[in-house]
Amino acid sequence: MIWKFITFFVKKLDPEIAHKLTIKFLKLGFHPRLNQSVIPIKLGDLIFKNLFGVAAGFDKNAEVINKIHFLNFGFTEVGTITPIPQYGNPKPRIFRLEKDKAIINRNGFNNLGMLRAKKKLEHYRKRFPVGSDFLVGVNIGPNKDSDDRFNDYKVLAENLSEFADYISINVSSPNTPNLREFQKKENLEKVINFVKDGIAKSKTFNKKLPIFLKIAPDINKQTLNSIIETAHSQKIFGLIISNTTLDRESNLKSKKSNELGGLSGKPLFKKSTDILSQANKIIKNNNYKLFLIAAGGVSDSKTAYVKILCGAHLVQLYSSLTFEGPLVANKIISGISKLMKRDNIDNIFNIVGIINNPKEAMNIAINGFKKKKKLDSFTI
Ligand SMILES: Cc1cc2nc3c(=O)[nH]c(=O)nc-3n(C[C@H](O)[C@H](O)[C@H](O)COP(=O)(O)O)c2cc1C
Repeated sequence: MIWKFITFFVKKLDPEIAHKLTIKFLKLGFHPRLNQSVIPIKLGDLIFKNLFGVAAGFDKNAEVINKIHFLNFGFTEVGTITPIPQYGNPKPRIFRLEKDKAIINRNGFNNLGMLRAKKKLEHYRKRFPVGSDFLVGVNIGPNKDSDDRFNDYKVLAENLSEFADYISINVSSPNTPNLREFQKKENLEKVINFVKDGIAKSKTFNKKLPIFLKIAPDINKQTLNSIIETAHSQKIFGLIISNTTLDRESNLKSKKSNELGGLSGKPLFKKSTDILSQANKIIKNNNYKLFLIAAGGVSDSKTAYVKILCGAHLVQLYSSLTFEGPLVANKIISGISKLMKRDNIDNIFNIVGIINNPKEAMNIAINGFKKKKKLDSFTI
């Protein structure tokens, strides 16, 4: 009850102040301490006690990793971290679309820079070394005004990979001009090679350090195909689908829906799930080994179940943490456990990516496998 009240109160504040306050509360230990209910999954050598994680952007400077443990997430992704500290775009730059359960942000990689994050990660790893049962992804991106953005990725990988359970290459933020150009084949190959070079030069070189590519939802099939081909040929561990969208649905209700920036939360669910489902099909058809992390509009157990059925091995969220509060992972996990019981599923891995159509997946999430109904009028 108290957390519901606090979430209600925090939501009344300016979104950036609310976020700062949340980080401060977490730092001070003012947060729920939840029973660790689990839905474990093993991906290669990575063992997640829970398949739900906090998406990049929440803990940009790696300040509250050990606090997120208590919220029942299985992993977190810190960053996006850039080599040099960066203020980002002028404020206001985060907008809450209350009626749409969405957020628009045009932060532009505001962060305290690589060296500060390195210190924080170093400190964290003294207590929780790489391979501990709460996993930490490190999300990296270039400075806006960098002379050599490729080299930025290398420098970041060289300095930060020793602290990471996985590295996430951000080539999809809409708020750094031209960043999405890195999704093009030649650029993407070059970025990956620079990151690999950086990892090879890092202090404790982990040859098998998993690399994820975080991609945009605003891509066509051809681009998705080309990204997957590159990821496969470069032996990338997986894709994170997706970052925020530049698209605006016509039926957004909030006045602020025309603000510039990336849209996340509920209205992103359909678009990001469509791309996830397409990626799942391409990967399966080609027999590739690529893991998928879903992000985009996950707010409850049903939306999370749909992501898993459509190909997600792991699920991340950010916006619903803002709208639902710090108990959100707990609620989703206990909801998913009930859905698994209902559907007689004892290992979540058995249902990852088994449905080819997001609408059908939502039908199953609502009605169960046994009572599949036609949901012609249902849209997600
Ligand atoms: C305020 C805000 C800041 C974000 N910052 C980053 C970032 O720095 N790097 C990144 O890769 N994604 C960032 N994201 C995108 C999220 O990680 C996630 O991909 C996206 O919000 C979709 O998930 P959601 O609908 O659960 O929020 C940010 C999202 C929000 C709302």
